[in-house]
Amino acid sequence: MNALTPETIAIVKSTAPVMRQHGVAITNRMYERLFVDPEIKGLFDEAAQKSGEQPKRLAAALLGFASNADNLDVLTAAIERIAARHVEMHVAPEHYPAVANALLPAIKDVLGDAADERVLSAWGEAYWFLADVLKSHERGLYAREA
Ligand code: HEM
Repeated sequence: MNALTPETIAIVKSTAPVMRQHGVAITNRMYERLFVDPEIKGLFDEAAQKSGEQPKRLAAALLGFASNADNLDVLTAAIERIAARHVEMHVAPEHYPAVANALLPAIKDVLGDAADERVLSAWGEAYWFLADVLKSHERGLYAREA
């Protein structure tokens, strides 16, 4: 997988404060967009039934990731935990585009002109970088189960 370029990291990091400030609005908008798909909604409903919690940690993690975009080593433990939870919930590689397609427009919906093409494309790259890291961990965990 391709590492993020220093420029992408700089853009993502520079938007971390505004992402945090509007995090709840972005999160809510993201889930609104995501849950239009009944299969995806089903995954989260099942998770919530098991844990009794709202699925807000996914978006929080995505937004929090911005602060560590240049220091991914600190995310290792979190990545292992997330991958384990995903495997428990049967998240599959083909689900990743739906989250990208919900997150990026949600950022645009909430931030408006502040989320220009440059910002959105940096976030798109960052999302797919993290998605690739997770998918590869998850592949290993699914293989162990089989
Ligand atoms: C880069 C992409 C993603 C990131 C950073 C991410 C992050 C997270 C985090 C932090 C959690 C909470 C883990 C915990 O229990 O501590 C989580 C849970 C979960 N994620 Fe992801 N996720 C991503 C992609 C996806 C995708 C593509 C799906 C499937 C549509 C998905 C579905 C779920 C579900 C169902 C849960 C369990 C929610 C709950 O416990 O209520 N995630 N994810």
